[in-house]
Formats: sequence, structure tokens, C-alpha cells
Amino acid sequence: MLALLLTALLAVHSIALEVHVPDFPVVVLYGTDTILNCTFLGAKNFNLSELSVFWQLADTQRSVHAYFDKQDRFIDQDERFANRTSLFPAELASGNASLLLRRVRVADEGSYTCFVKVDTYSKDSMFMQVAAPYSKPSVTWETDANPKPGDVVALTCVAYGGYPEAQVLWQDGSGQNLTENVTVSPVANEQGLFTIRSVLTVILEPNSTYSCRLTNPLLGDEGHASVTITAQAPVFPQVALWVTIGLAVCLLGLLIALAAVCHRKIKESCEEMRAEEEAKELEEAKELEESKTAATPLKS
Ligand SMILES: *[C@@H]1O[C@H](CO)[C@@H](O)[C@H](O)[C@H]1NC(C)=O
Ligand SMILES: *[C@@H]1O[C@H](CO)[C@@H](O)[C@H](O)[C@H]1NC(C)=O
Ligand SMILES: *[C@@H]1O[C@H](CO)[C@@H](O)[C@H](O)[C@H]1NC(C)=O
Ligand SMILES: *[C@@H]1O[C@H](CO)[C@@H](O)[C@H](O)[C@H]1NC(C)=O
Ligand SMILES: *[C@@H]1O[C@H](CO)[C@@H](O)[C@H](O)[C@H]1NC(C)=O
Ligand SMILES: *[C@@H]1O[C@H](CO)[C@@H](O)[C@H](O)[C@H]1NC(C)=O
Ligand SMILES: *[C@@H]1O[C@H](CO)[C@@H](O)[C@H](O)[C@H]1NC(C)=O
Repeated sequence: MLALLLTALLAVHSIALEVHVPDFPVVVLYGTDTILNCTFLGAKNFNLSELSVFWQLADTQRSVHAYFDKQDRFIDQDERFANRTSLFPAELASGNASLLLRRVRVADEGSYTCFVKVDTYSKDSMFMQVAAPYSKPSVTWETDANPKPGDVVALTCVAYGGYPEAQVLWQDGSGQNLTENVTVSPVANEQGLFTIRSVLTVILEPNSTYSCRLTNPLLGDEGHASVTITAQAPVFPQVALWVTIGLAVCLLGLLIALAAVCHRKIKESCEEMRAEEEAKELEEAKELEESKTAATPLKS
């Protein structure tokens, strides 16, 4: 008789409380409201005043939302959840202790524990992931006005306002992946949303298209942007070549003319000089002759 009673008692106690939350990560869009599902079984026809529900951050045990003695309790609530949480009071009696979380932020991402107590207690944890779509990517590039084949050009692809970090894939016009000389730098703003900037350095070919594709690990393909750069073989230098040749020919002609003139001038002046010298010599000889004749009488 006593044994029977004991087993009956044990059977009653073995109907323990069971708490269920999603066992897969729940993805929530940034800025939206979400419901973190939590249900409990094993408590039939209980008095609500016996029920306690605690939603907590799994790693720090900080309070997200508390309910006991038929009331929400905000005393210990982590301030960053202030005014953003509520349960569904009408659903509690039927075993629904789900949490409504409003205006989800990046910082809300993490593990949440749903703790329920009616006589006995139990708990379970779930993971919430936050996702924010990126802006459409845009590609810009900087170079002088006339890109030439062989120029090294840096292409920059930018997309912003997303979460988590996106992957950037560069492709050329024929769909080949370009993985060399790519740098990706993500920068998070105050809200935790990323700006993704990827720089691809290429050596220009005459006619090339480059596209940048952005993939959000949670939301998938987020669009792409592309640029086509028509790098033409330089036209200006060809003109310059003819101008240079023309100038060179002119210069050569001038030099030749100058040389001819000079040659003549030199010849003329040389002849003049020779004539002058001859005249001078003649005069000197004459003078010498004269002095000789003048000196003779003194000697004799
Ligand atoms: C929460 O539970 C409801 C009802 O079972 C279901 O429709 C909804 O998809 C669940 N939400 C999540 C995020 O699991
Ligand atoms: C709990 O109740 C809320 C409000 O009615 C509902 O949206 C949600 O889907 C319910 N959750 C489950 C798991 O039934
Ligand atoms: C629930 O419990 C409270 C206090 O223990 C009691 O005053 C109230 O009558 C009970 N309600 C029901 C429906 O049993
Ligand atoms: C919450 O709402 C109350 C009343 O509307 C307001 O006074 C309080 O500043 C709000 N707290 C936060 C953190 O927004
Ligand atoms: C390019 O890279 C993507 C992502 O890494 C990959 O799925 C795809 O197969 C690659 N394509 C080629 C042609 O290598
Ligand atoms: C990539 O970078 C390496 C080292 O800086 C350089 O040798 C190579 O030419 C670059 N390739 C392109 C396509 O710019
Ligand atoms: C560049 O390539 C595109 C497509 O391959 C072609 O339609 C276009 O005519 C080309 N332009 C030049 C200047 O070669």
C-alpha cells in the first residue's frame, strides 16, 4: 500500500516541467519586432500566481524580462531592453511564455534563456541572429581623363548599412573571379552596421568590365555593380610624333642654312685678313728698306 503510494507520488513528480525554444538560430531583420518563442508543458490547471518567467541573456544572466506574482518586473532589467519587451499575458495560462522584442538591434544578437517555474522549474536557450540588408553596391575608380592600356587602376566597391559582414566577389567581363590584389575593409558604425569597402587593383586592358558582387551570409545575394573602362591606345602622342618630326626637319634646315652662311662669312673674313696682312707685310718691308737707307749715312 505504502509502496503503491510512493510510486504514484514519484510518477506525479516525474511529470516535470518541459520548456521548449527553437533549437535553430532565429534570424531577425534589423529594426523589426520579433517574437522569441518559448512554450512550457507539464503544468496543468496551475494558478497564475504560481508562475514565474525569466528571460535572460544566456552568457551574462542579465535580465531581459521578468514576470512573477502575476506582474512584469523591471527592477533588474538590463537597460538596453527598456521599453522593448513584453510577454503575452493572455497566453501564459496555455503555456506560451514567448517574448516580444521590439526594434531589434545588432547588439541584441546572442543567446537567450527562457526560464519557467511552476512548482518545479526548467529552462532552455536559443540563439538570435540579426541581419540587415546592404545598400546597392557602387563601383568607382580614379585615374586621369584618358586611361591607357597598361595603367594601374584602383577600383573601389562600396556598400553600407548591412549586417553581418558581407563577402565581396570581383569578376571580369567574362565572369572570371578576380581574387588577386583585392583588399576588403569593413567598418561598423554606432549601430553596429557595416560599411564594406573593397579595392581591386588592376592593370587596364583596352576594353574591360569589372563587376563587384555582394553576398550577405544570412540574406544571400545582395546585388552587384559594374564598370566598363574603355582604355584607348593614346591618340595624342601620335600627333606629337609628327609635330616632333616636323620641328626636327625645320631645325635641321635652319642649321644647314646657318652653316652655309657662316662658312661664307668665315671665308670672306679670312680673305680679308690675308689681304690686310699682305698689305701690312708690304708696308713693313718698305719701312725697313727706308730705315736702312736712312741709317747708312750715319755709319759712313
Ligand atoms: C513561433 O511560434 C509560432 C506558432 O507555433 C510559429 O508560427 C512561428 O513561426 C514561430 N516563430 C519562430 C521564430 O520560430
Ligand atoms: C505565443 O503567443 C503569441 C501571441 O499570440 C503568438 O504570436 C506566438 O506565435 C505564440 N507562440 C507559440 C509558440 O505558440
Ligand atoms: C490562486 O492563488 C491565490 C493565492 O495563492 C489565491 O488567492 C487565488 O484564489 C487562487 N486562484 C485560483 C483560481 O485558484
Ligand atoms: C521608456 O518609456 C518611458 C515612458 O514612456 C520613458 O520615460 C523612458 O525614458 C523610456 N526609457 C527608454 C530607455 O527609452
Ligand atoms: C567564383 O567564386 C565564387 C565564390 O567564391 C564561386 O562560387 C564560383 O564558383 C567561382 N567561379 C569561378 C569561375 O571560379
Ligand atoms: C598584384 O600585386 C602584385 C604585387 O603587388 C603585382 O606584382 C601584380 O602585378 C598585381 N597584379 C595586378 C593585376 O595588378
Ligand atoms: C568593348 O567590348 C564590348 C563588348 O565586348 C563591345 O560591344 C564594344 O564595342 C567594345 N568597345 C571597344 C571600344 O572595343
